[in-house]
Amino acid sequence: MEYNRILITAALPYANGPVHIGHLAGCFLPADIYARYQRAQKRDVKFVCGSDEHGVPITIRAMKEHITPQDVVDKYHAIIKDSFEQMGISFDIYSRTSSSTHRETSQAFFKKLYDDGVFEERESDQYYDEETNTFLADRYIIGTCPVCSNDNAYGDQCEKCGSTLSSEQLINPRSALSSAPLVKRKTTHWYFPLDKYESWLREWIVDGKKDSWKPNVYGQCKSWIDSGLHPRAMTRDSSWGVPVPLPGADGKVLYVWFDAPIGYISATKDLTNQWSDYWCNDDTKLVHFIGKDNIVFHCIIFPAMLKAHGGFVLPDNVPANEFLNIEGQKVSTSRNWAVWVDEYVKDFPDQQDVLRYVLCSNAPETKDNDFTWKDFQDRTNNELVSVFGNFVNRAFVLMHKLCKGRMPALHADFMDDADRTLIEEIKNAKVKVETCLEGYKFRDGLFEVIDLARKGNKYMQDKQPWITIKSLETNPDSQKLVDNCLHLCLQLTANLAILANPFLPFTAKKMCGMMAVVDRMLQWENAGRMDLLKTNYPLKAPELLFKKIEDTDVAAQIEKLQNNLKQATANNNMETKTTEAEEPTAAPLPVQKSEISIDDFMKIDLRVGTILKAEKVEKADKLLKLELDMGNNELRTVVSGIALHFKPEDIIGKQVTVVANLAPRKMKGIESKGMILMAQNNDGKLIFVSPLETADSGSEVR
Ligand code: 2FM
Ligand code: ZN
Repeated sequence: MEYNRILITAALPYANGPVHIGHLAGCFLPADIYARYQRAQKRDVKFVCGSDEHGVPITIRAMKEHITPQDVVDKYHAIIKDSFEQMGISFDIYSRTSSSTHRETSQAFFKKLYDDGVFEERESDQYYDEETNTFLADRYIIGTCPVCSNDNAYGDQCEKCGSTLSSEQLINPRSALSSAPLVKRKTTHWYFPLDKYESWLREWIVDGKKDSWKPNVYGQCKSWIDSGLHPRAMTRDSSWGVPVPLPGADGKVLYVWFDAPIGYISATKDLTNQWSDYWCNDDTKLVHFIGKDNIVFHCIIFPAMLKAHGGFVLPDNVPANEFLNIEGQKVSTSRNWAVWVDEYVKDFPDQQDVLRYVLCSNAPETKDNDFTWKDFQDRTNNELVSVFGNFVNRAFVLMHKLCKGRMPALHADFMDDADRTLIEEIKNAKVKVETCLEGYKFRDGLFEVIDLARKGNKYMQDKQPWITIKSLETNPDSQKLVDNCLHLCLQLTANLAILANPFLPFTAKKMCGMMAVVDRMLQWENAGRMDLLKTNYPLKAPELLFKKIEDTDVAAQIEKLQNNLKQATANNNMETKTTEAEEPTAAPLPVQKSEISIDDFMKIDLRVGTILKAEKVEKADKLLKLELDMGNNELRTVVSGIALHFKPEDIIGKQVTVVANLAPRKMKGIESKGMILMAQNNDGKLIFVSPLETADSGSEVR
């Protein structure tokens, strides 16, 4: 497909806290490198982003701080926007989802789907906190864990034993906001029938994107689709968000994951009147840069919404990165285990490119990676300072010393194989970096840039112009040899500026200053050229490109991390917990539980049971009462929390694995004898653990 324009989006960060370097490495930095590269290619590029200002965490933070949600987002929108500017993230617009453009755009989008009859309207019972007058998502419900009896388990997970839970399974559920016991209330929402788009998504992604999407992205999408898609509620009960644009829908807002991606469209509208050129033409290349936790929303849900709406371009690629850990531990905002960008720019003034360099050269492109301050120091000192900075500095210092501060000539008759090889290397570097960037391989691209500088260093070291010049009296051609060496080193420097520019824009700009050339030289078409600096042209004094990172800097940062952690642990209460991400989505695989002996295992009596009857349990919308044939004429009642996943009539006759000797317990007044085993996908979907062939009811599972 020939594209005529490129629309680049970076995931809208939640405006409920500052951004950390994991955010940068995950999506903003690769998106910026890509945008800068494409602009240097003179392509028609728009790079859009903004703050994601809706969702539960923002309302909760406002409640705790006794300020309005608008105050919360105003504060963090400003901090985040400033952090991006400081780091040179070159958005064409950094918008926000509390804007009127966004409200109108997302409401019109919803209304079109509604008018076209896309949504299903459903009523359900949900937990309600009467003290704060809010319906609560599972994450904001606390209670006793049915597995390990931890009294402070969350409605989606028990952090003590690692069990994935639903709030329905918690014993004595209470509100995380007010600690009040919860009641059930009926509520109506509009569901997007994702299931109806399954075959289209399969064709579009599974068949169509196998070779072009990154394996991590493709794999996650395929497993979602393979495990079956279900309708998803696209509205919530809340006073904060984009109001549902329907009569009688007071107190209902669009689900934050419905409105946020539409934020890309509204941001483009805020940027240009020609926004529809970018969104409504198939010759636009739409690329979403995101972190891996956003894959399902950008690859499955948003495209299905766009498809249902019609008239919009779909993403050509979604190059999602994995996560960046810090000093061997997962980033945690609640534990304050993070390196905050606004603090980095204060602690390391004018060293933005150093962070850009380290985050890109260690980017979590194919797997989670670790950021350590020691590695930050090593990469800076051993690569940026010793290789790149050192080469450029030596070329300039020697040119001032041996060539009177002017660009020396290239004397063709005095060129040797080493010179010719270097010229070849410069030309090859352009192609290599370009191929990497077009294929979203930013780490590899940056490696090629440094590798070129490394080759420059070696060339200079082999040539030793400072020695050659010493034989000037005995060999009058020495000056020509020195000229050739420095001519090539300086042309290489100009090439380095062009190739490094997408990655290290502050450095490229400084280099242009030293070479006394205008920034226009940085256009990509100039890479590979050997006439970028004109002979006899006066060049400026070298500037320090990168500062060495000292041991004391590393120690101070590590101490800061540890102090933050100590302080957060001391304050750790619900307030910090509720600042975590909007809602757990493609949940990470649960942590493996501690080791047990074979004797422990042998205590569990696993049997095949056959479901004879299934019915909903009254006043418990997640529970099904099952009657199981356990063989030997034994019938058993088991209550199972699977009602949201299966219709009773669909599971009759299914064979399941039963923990047959689990102590009986009462659920909603019904005695449940045993538990059925289910596999749970990353997306929360439940799958029966059944024998592959029909087994006798009551057979032992060993
Ligand atoms: O995960 C997040 O931080 C979300 N705020 C990303 C939203 S991306 C888009 F859809 F707007
Ligand atoms: Zn537990």
